Amino acid sequence: MCGIVGYIGKRQAYPVLIKGLHRLEYRGYDSAGVALINPAGNLNVYKSQGKVSDLEDTAQHQDLTGSIGIAHTRWATHGEPNFRNAHPHLSQFGRLAIVHNGIIENYAPLREKLWQNGRTFKSDTDTEVVVQLIEYLQEKQQLSFQQSVQQTLQMLQGSYAIAVLDKNQPDTIVAARKGSPLVVGVGDDELFLGSDASPIVEYTNRVIYLDDEDMVVLHRGTGANTSEVSIDLMTVSGDRKQPRIEQVSLDVSQLEKGGYDHFMLKEICEQPQSLRSCLQFARRTLAGEEAEGIFTLLESSQRVLITACGTSWHAGIVAKYALEQMVRVPVDVDYASEFRYRNPVITRGDTVIAISQSGETADTLAAIEMAKNQGAKVLSICNVIGSSIPRASDKVIYTMVGPEIGVASTKAFTAQVSVLTMLALLWGKRKGTLSAARCEDLLKEMDALPEKIQQVLNQQPAIRRMAETLSFASSCLYIGRSYNYPVALEGALKLKEISYIHAEGYPAAEMKHGPIALISQEMPVVTIATASDIYDKLVSNVQEIRARQGRVMAVVTEGDTEVVRMADCYVEVPRVSECLSPILNIVPLQLLSYYVACLKGCNVDQPRNLAKSVTVE
Ligand code: AGP
Repeated sequence: MCGIVGYIGKRQAYPVLIKGLHRLEYRGYDSAGVALINPAGNLNVYKSQGKVSDLEDTAQHQDLTGSIGIAHTRWATHGEPNFRNAHPHLSQFGRLAIVHNGIIENYAPLREKLWQNGRTFKSDTDTEVVVQLIEYLQEKQQLSFQQSVQQTLQMLQGSYAIAVLDKNQPDTIVAARKGSPLVVGVGDDELFLGSDASPIVEYTNRVIYLDDEDMVVLHRGTGANTSEVSIDLMTVSGDRKQPRIEQVSLDVSQLEKGGYDHFMLKEICEQPQSLRSCLQFARRTLAGEEAEGIFTLLESSQRVLITACGTSWHAGIVAKYALEQMVRVPVDVDYASEFRYRNPVITRGDTVIAISQSGETADTLAAIEMAKNQGAKVLSICNVIGSSIPRASDKVIYTMVGPEIGVASTKAFTAQVSVLTMLALLWGKRKGTLSAARCEDLLKEMDALPEKIQQVLNQQPAIRRMAETLSFASSCLYIGRSYNYPVALEGALKLKEISYIHAEGYPAAEMKHGPIALISQEMPVVTIATASDIYDKLVSNVQEIRARQGRVMAVVTEGDTEVVRMADCYVEVPRVSECLSPILNIVPLQLLSYYVACLKGCNVDQPRNLAKSVTVE
């Protein structure tokens, strides 16, 4: 997704902006640009298709002076990913520059109206319409910079996070958000903007999370104290607001690879630590004063509706199995993009659980807004503190695994499943549908999971060898049953999103209802066949595959004697209770997809066409 960085203050802006764009690269993009106002008052814009490093090559011999600027990485929505459509966009007479994240749904009629008034356009983007409209209002209605932005925003439909420069106002940045995140960083005599806190944290940990329909004017002092900065916060309709400064607990080192080749490998390998942090925080949250509010919200519901996207949706399916088995509460799981448009039956007795690593996924955010409007209460499970989804929820449980930079979600998934499983255990114990003894046994087993994950991580050589085989496939199946059916879905998503090999997850018993027609030497089947109540059924499913010369790559419980005899290759994981096995079983599949992608020379951390946080629908 697009990334925005802004700076005004005592430093040269360009280095801050470029480093900030690098920090936001993980969000996924296809072009980049920067706009600066130099000391002479010139508005200089440099942009390029491709990577931030391409932008640096383009700009290196240009005038990069100035202590105020905005910058952008673009993930194409309107208009192809090319130079012409890259941000920042200039207004017709070159007075204004804008960067934007989001989708303006009524840009076409606005563009038509501007055309009729003599405006011409250089790009295919909705963003250029916005900056042209701001300049048009400035001129036609003699509005100030701030007023013209404000009036423009009131005319827009859709979502935006924007930052705007006016070369006639070289000490001001105007920014605003609606449906796309934007954070203000508050330093000493300097102010920052970021789509999230990552471009800001190395300069300050004091941030202001803008709410939807907030507009903020960042000023640098003029006259006597030119270094002083100030913030005017208001709503788009003009009501003044008091900025609420929060401390962000992000450390710069968490944004570095720490010696690993890729962020994804780092995040897979840090799961023992990240899971410990997650479990400790979840235990505190679910035992502290916050717990009563969460359980009261859950226990007042007749039904649980889980909504999420992608990997988070897979975590939701695991949660369905856990909640229905341990709490005996009916659970539905919906893709957020479907949930928000299928006019679901939602009653006041429903609790929605929204799962999101980034807390900014547009479909998930919209889904919970819709559910709340129909009377549901919302609990969110999220990894980014202060992000939009927790702020729109009645209650939140943070997964606390630190920033997840790799586009392919790994440590967030094991954390989401852990938090949701712990919630099911404790809720079941409170409700009496799970014995206190069983609950305590499983909680103790959860505490031992980090060490068991480490045992799996120690098998990377064997998993890398499995990857050598899988890397030649053009398509493959992942199968599992019960709690491990969503693990099959997640393993397949991991492979396809970073290695571009088509992969499909299936409930193992479904093979004979169609997919078994695909079985051949060329179609490997990754089978999750760890110890469970229905292990024998899995053995039969593997036999069906082998009987048709299919190739089987298996994840088995250490000591397995049956599936290992039929599998072409396998990886063993330590024994755990079935309800906890997704947290362990996904780890070899994460590594498998990682090594396949490396063998294929793919861009592991920033796969083509993908974004880390999908903030547009
Ligand atoms: C998973 O590897 C992908 N990055 C993607 O499917 C992701 O899970 C999905 O976009 C949801 O993101 P969220 O958890 O931040 O809401």
